Amino acid sequence: MGDLMGDAVGDMAEIDVAGLPAYPFIGPDDDPFTPVKGSDLDRFEGPIGKVRLPFGGWAWLVTRHEDVRQLLRHPGFSSDQYKPGFPVLNPIPPKQDDASGLFIFMDGDAHSRFRRMLTAEFMIKNIRRIEPLIEKDVIEALERMRSLGAPADLMNEFALPVPSMTICHLLGVPYADHDFFQHHSRVIMDRKSGPAEVEEALGALTVLLGNLVKAKRTDPGEDLLSRLVAERVVPGELREDELVSLAMLLLVAGHETTANMIGLSALVLLEHPEHLAALREDPGLAPGMVEELLRYLTVVRTGLPRLALEDAEIGGQKIRAGEGVVAMLAMSNRDSSVFGDPDEFDPKRREAHRHMAFGFGLHQCIGQPLARAELRIALLELARRFPGLRSERALADVPQRPMAVTFGVAELPVTW
Ligand code: HEM
Repeated sequence: MGDLMGDAVGDMAEIDVAGLPAYPFIGPDDDPFTPVKGSDLDRFEGPIGKVRLPFGGWAWLVTRHEDVRQLLRHPGFSSDQYKPGFPVLNPIPPKQDDASGLFIFMDGDAHSRFRRMLTAEFMIKNIRRIEPLIEKDVIEALERMRSLGAPADLMNEFALPVPSMTICHLLGVPYADHDFFQHHSRVIMDRKSGPAEVEEALGALTVLLGNLVKAKRTDPGEDLLSRLVAERVVPGELREDELVSLAMLLLVAGHETTANMIGLSALVLLEHPEHLAALREDPGLAPGMVEELLRYLTVVRTGLPRLALEDAEIGGQKIRAGEGVVAMLAMSNRDSSVFGDPDEFDPKRREAHRHMAFGFGLHQCIGQPLARAELRIALLELARRFPGLRSERALADVPQRPMAVTFGVAELPVTW
């Protein structure tokens, strides 16, 4: 990538953006297990270089494992996508007034104020508490799929409902509201929904969550919303509207990511029935297999964009304040200096846990214990209950979702 290396200092005005290589595109024609096309991989692996962004402008592309770690733990880079000059990878909606708790896009104290409130909630012991509920939902979804008869779309019947049911348990959405909650979260996540439908669904969920937050004052339960109401809202540390948008963030951040991981993981296991059988025989393999699936699939394929707020040096490259940077998690998870034979799926890989599928550093995924529990339970029950599971389509014919923040398959027709 030597020819792409620019002298970062002093050349901002002279950059020939049109002449830069295009940001590596993950198109619908590619093999779903290959995060970046071979030719792009050759061009972009190695030292940091400049790329032309899909919506104009340019950014530094960071692909090496160690460089990504260095970038993501550096406090001099912003996650605020509304800051001028922020490297835009996906069209972003206009800034919402009621988005006060979306701390994934915040920096510094504003970010840590919210994050700190959630740290204990996502500790393994709290996640263990809802594991039996996740298990029950997983089994229900699978048995419902069986009762509908083969062929069935595993995405629709299984991968998509599981994360929204889980978030209901986490937040403490009463059972009677589950269908309402799931219906509207599905509209929000469905790429076929028009902007008006999405807005309506967001409004309906905001009302539901708002009422729920109020109800938890008088009728608290053993759930995240009840605890945050009692410990933060009542003492005046957190406003109700902030708690509602925090809950929405958990829903949005935890839904597509986990659903696509369940769907793509099932696809990997359908392509490798020997691993599905091994999982059935030895459930103890599940945690390691989940780590390797997270590494191998890296569903946040577009990478994590950041804006430099100060001059910095990452991977030996000077980055100037005001310049955009993108951490390509999918490439750092295939860095051969960390992962031997990185393009191989090896469920017993010892170094799999070093993956960065959940990001790294300041914004590292807070929901990861929950995501791991969902994946482990979902894959174990799938292996256990559907020993004869087969894909209805050849790998090349499984439709992929067009380039989006999280990568996945659009549908996964299976039989058994
Ligand atoms: C396999 C599933 C998941 C994947 C691959 C994933 C991936 C990620 C990544 C890469 C980030 C870092 C974003 C950044 O640095 O800009 C992140 C942050 C985040 N994730 Fe996840 N996530 C998953 C599941 C979940 C779940 C289940 C939840 C919650 C219910 C969740 C909630 C969050 C939140 C709130 C943040 C923001 C953290 C912060 O800004 O400090 N995620 N996730």
